[in-house]
Amino acid sequence: MAENSEFGEDLESWETVTFLYNAAAKEVVTKLEILNDEFKHVHNYNPIEYFKSRIKSPESIVKKLKRYGYEPTIQNMITYVNDFAGIRLVCSFTSDIYRLAEMIGRQNDLTVVSIKDYIKNPKESGYKSYHMIVTVPIFMSDRVVDTKVEIQIRTIAMDFWASLEHKIYYKFEGHAPEHISKELRECASIVSQLDEKMLSLNDEIRQYKLED
Ligand code: GTP
Ligand code: MG
Repeated sequence: MAENSEFGEDLESWETVTFLYNAAAKEVVTKLEILNDEFKHVHNYNPIEYFKSRIKSPESIVKKLKRYGYEPTIQNMITYVNDFAGIRLVCSFTSDIYRLAEMIGRQNDLTVVSIKDYIKNPKESGYKSYHMIVTVPIFMSDRVVDTKVEIQIRTIAMDFWASLEHKIYYKFEGHAPEHISKELRECASIVSQLDEKMLSLNDEIRQYKLED
């Protein structure tokens, strides 16, 4: 409970937001599972390899708000923190990413608030992924609250790179020696080549299947 007091607001409202964001993550996860199952049923193909869903800890929310220069209040968290509820979708091929993003965008009860395509425009670090912020309506007993969820979509190879880079970044607290950053960017480019190769192999294999 001590961790909540950092927000300087009553526990009840902190509990309410936690409830809301947990509910939002659950709603989106269920939608994605249904999309995946339906796709498998119709096309005999699984666009999602696996996914992870998480709620940000109060400590890292406070840290983030401080980094942004905002007071750590619940209201500021709701306004400025987009990834309190986060879902990471990992797929096999880059083409699956866009297919999934399109399927998510077509869901009537989800509103896409913003998109960042770090595949077309990779980050300085070499980071690649497709990010969407969506809102989902949460129906409470007395009101409906549109609640934000961050969805990160990436290939297995991109996820592999991002996980290792994240560890290294933390080890150096964001100040990795230049040659390490450079080598990580090189690894990112190898990962991209690997993704391209796997995709073209898959396209070729699909042709064989069609000819059968
Ligand atoms: P934050 O970076 O989360 O403060 O917000 P932002 O508005 O800049 O969002 P952005 O889309 O840039 O990044 C959101 C999330 O993407 C991060 O919390 C990470 O999970 C992931 N991410 C972004 N850049 C990198 C990167 O260079 N390396 C790794 N490993 N992950 C990254
Ligand atoms: Mg950022």
